[in-house]
Amino acid sequence: MKNPQLSVLIPEARIQARIRELGAAITKDYPDGELILLGILKGSFLFIADLVRAIDRPCKIEFMGMASYGSGTVSSGEVAITRKLSMNIAGAHVLIVEDIVDTGRTLNALIHLLEQEKPQSVQIAALLDKEERREFVVPVAYRGFPIPDEFVVGYGLDFDENYRGLKDICVLSEGD
Ligand code: IMP
Ligand code: MG
Repeated sequence: MKNPQLSVLIPEARIQARIRELGAAITKDYPDGELILLGILKGSFLFIADLVRAIDRPCKIEFMGMASYGSGTVSSGEVAITRKLSMNIAGAHVLIVEDIVDTGRTLNALIHLLEQEKPQSVQIAALLDKEERREFVVPVAYRGFPIPDEFVVGYGLDFDENYRGLKDICVLSEGD
């Protein structure tokens, strides 16, 4: 991309305040029993790190890798598993932790896959939701922020593997 421009969409303080609210809601909602936070790599690595510290009950952490974007800003339409589950989730409450729901293709595919492993429940926590782009119905139980249809980076989200370390969520656009 020539002359990339970043503009802050959601500043760090708002992200952190919202995650504390989500953590409190998750703490209150979940009954006793095994709770597994299942982070989707790589974009959710910061969100899951902050979310687990905002949840006041025991939980386990697991990761899966799913890729639906190539190196561009448009979804390739295919979902590939780049890292498989390494934990038995049968009988457990699974909370998928995702950075952003766009078309819903990734989460729709993942939910069907997880159901074959017989968890007690599967829910979704997504930090960002580009709701106007949705093509697949996915139930998002815990949502951080609805956002407009713009390409965003930072706080775990990348463009071609860059920008993941930004503290704010920023819109990335191409300048003149
Ligand atoms: P979906 O399968 O179309 O819902 O796409 C979800 C995945 O696409 C997310 O997990 C992200 O990895 C990626 N993605 C979607 N929108 C953006 C964006 O604006 N910035 C960075 N990654 C995005
Ligand atoms: Mg992702």
